[in-house]
Amino acid sequence: MSDAPNVQALQSRGEALVHEAEREAKRLQTSEAAHACKAKYLGKKGLLADVMKQLSALPPEERKSVGKVANTIKEQLEGIFDAALKRLEQEALDKSLETSGVDVTRPARERWLGTLHPLTRTTFRIIEVFQSLGFVIADGPEIEHDFYNFEALNFPKDHPARDMQDTFFASPDVLLRTHTSPVQIRTMLDRKPPVRIICPGKVYRCDADITHSPMFHQVEGLWVDQRVSMADLKGVLRAFAERLFGRHTKVRLRPSYFPFVEPGAEVDVTCVLCGGKGCRVCKQTGWLEILGAGMVHPNVLTAVGYNPEEVRGFAFGMGVERIAMLLHGVDDIRLFFDNDIRFLRQFQ
Ligand code: PHE
Repeated sequence: MSDAPNVQALQSRGEALVHEAEREAKRLQTSEAAHACKAKYLGKKGLLADVMKQLSALPPEERKSVGKVANTIKEQLEGIFDAALKRLEQEALDKSLETSGVDVTRPARERWLGTLHPLTRTTFRIIEVFQSLGFVIADGPEIEHDFYNFEALNFPKDHPARDMQDTFFASPDVLLRTHTSPVQIRTMLDRKPPVRIICPGKVYRCDADITHSPMFHQVEGLWVDQRVSMADLKGVLRAFAERLFGRHTKVRLRPSYFPFVEPGAEVDVTCVLCGGKGCRVCKQTGWLEILGAGMVHPNVLTAVGYNPEEVRGFAFGMGVERIAMLLHGVDDIRLFFDNDIRFLRQFQ
């Protein structure tokens, strides 16, 4: 009688292996032990391999059916250990959840990143252009004395031009600044010429509708030196408009009146929407008014102790909200202050 095992013998030996493996797998405590146990059964020198080695002793006609049986056993064994490993992983996770309270498998919570407010961004863009032209930032208080906001800017008491400024008064002499021009006065009182500054900041006027807000933002500029002319003013403003609104933007000055400049002008740029052809935004004119400007009035230079025979200067001032509305096609100023996240997120 040959001692080579027949198919039945292999089958029962294999079933016994599976049985044993099942029992052992149930008792496994760690995934390391599970891997080791799997190797004991399925490894190159494992128990199944032992059995398979005896295959070589089989007559060729029996090999096929024995191979089939052996494969089934191998698959069963693999299934047992894969299940054991899964169970151990789950147990480890449950345990860490119990102790740490952190479920590392949960989808991460979405993180919202904050961004700068569109008005802050627009202010920064404006500042950047003027800084590149050599202007430095100057700062001042929002609660002002009548002297800096009006008197020194050539608005005498009871001057009708004060009407333009819809002022919030705290007392007859103290008010919320209506423009950032008082910063120019403070700076000139503080420093000798040459002065080349921009003054960004909040200003206040008693006015509210879709294009006016009682609190809004301005950037004003001032350049005082021995030989500063209206041509310099126009050159600076043109460089500014081209940088902010695009290379093909044109600038025009129209005569206007502000007590602190002479001559004074309103400054228009070609419409950002239609490029000058005429549309709804520019009311078919092709132009948009974006700022006020002019040559500093001799009375203002005198008020700060400068000699109007020796120095001259130009000044300009613009509303940040208006620029932001034009740049982004916003048609209601109040949207900037509602702080509706759906509006703000569009500027990310
Ligand atoms: N200060 C003016 C205003 O707020 C703007 C301006 C500044 C106009 C400088 C001319 C020159 O209305």
